[in-house]
Amino acid sequence: MSADLIHPGHINILSRAAELGDVTIGLLTDAAIASYKRLPHMTYEQRKAVVANLKGVVEVIPQETLDYVPNLRTVKPDFVVHGDDWRTGVQRDTRQRVVDALAEWGGELVEVPYTQGISSTQLVASVKEVGTTPDVRLTRLRRLIDAKPIVRVLEAHSGLTGLIIETAEAERNGLKVEFDAMWSSSLTDSTARGKPDIELVDLNSRLQTINDLFEVTTKPLIYDGDTGGKPEHFSYTVRSLERLGVSAVIIEDKEGLKRNSLFGTEVAQTQSTIEDFVHRIQVGKKAQVTDDFMIIARIESLILEMGMEDAVTRAKAYIEGGADGIMIHSRQKSPDEIFEFCERFAAFETKVPLVVVPTSYNQVTEEEFIERGVNVVIYANQLMRASYKAMSSVAKSILENARSAEVDSQIANIKEALAIIPENES
Ligand code: SPV
Ligand code: MG
Repeated sequence: MSADLIHPGHINILSRAAELGDVTIGLLTDAAIASYKRLPHMTYEQRKAVVANLKGVVEVIPQETLDYVPNLRTVKPDFVVHGDDWRTGVQRDTRQRVVDALAEWGGELVEVPYTQGISSTQLVASVKEVGTTPDVRLTRLRRLIDAKPIVRVLEAHSGLTGLIIETAEAERNGLKVEFDAMWSSSLTDSTARGKPDIELVDLNSRLQTINDLFEVTTKPLIYDGDTGGKPEHFSYTVRSLERLGVSAVIIEDKEGLKRNSLFGTEVAQTQSTIEDFVHRIQVGKKAQVTDDFMIIARIESLILEMGMEDAVTRAKAYIEGGADGIMIHSRQKSPDEIFEFCERFAAFETKVPLVVVPTSYNQVTEEEFIERGVNVVIYANQLMRASYKAMSSVAKSILENARSAEVDSQIANIKEALAIIPENES
């Protein structure tokens, strides 16, 4: 069972099982569930506390994979009780493996007819409608990092982009995929306001964007904290972010007038000393109230052409100084330097999550990052770039044609545009 949202269908199965003897539940771990669908609302421990107290349940054991066989061989149950909805579809092979394993000791499969009229999918939709709380949202990023081979994050700079990230879905290799979290990018939040990415948009304006995002979404958010500013200010930033339910802040090891990293050495940019930056991290760590909020240190050594050794030395020092994760940035078309960093990082004694932002080396797939030990991939600016290009082209076409008929194929029709935003029924 996943047992995230217990409904009468689960109870039917459990009461049938209790008639047959002592019931052991194989409870899927967060990682097992996240391997094929969204992370459950409740943690493993919370779900365990619920099912352990259901009538007839004698024991709850973790099931680490979608395959039942390892647990079955350990427990050797007389019966396996399961809903009959797995006879067809993707679970068919899993069912067959259960039947074969049971035959090894003469166990029996008992299937309970699927309960009509109630579905976890419907319940999940209702939960989304209710929304989330700051605490639940904040802790979700750490849970995702623990449960998933890679956490997939997309840039958001408005309520509309938040809604797209909340709801976008696609199928990849037969599995449904979606974005796990949002990135509040300094570049796109500034660009959306027509301003340069130089720490000009103040904290309150940035927090307003997050408020807009949080009003219409439930997914966690990572905040681009630029340099973190003055340490005395950074402690307030951390607390403001935590209060809203932001999961993590990433700060970069630069100082003075911050320019966007993708300018590289074309503009003057100064890297902080290790000591100053570690101090900034520590001020943030001291200020945070919850255990789960993360302060992630971003290394600009490759951007500023300071070399791999500098990047590696800094990563070690920042981790030692208390950073909860490392973001390594690069503006090369080739992923070679990032891959080299990943290799060096994998040999570190202290393990923290590793974050990458493949804007320039964008041919690398998530699977390749997983192989190299990357934990979080941030697509940092694509929605803003998509909208800028589409909007400029539409504006130009209207000017050229003295009407808007020519842009029809490039834009959502009015019905679609109205349907993007769900309206609460009164
Ligand atoms: C951002 O998205 O604002 C970032 C990433 O900081 S980058 O633009 O590549 O510097
Ligand atoms: Mg930025």
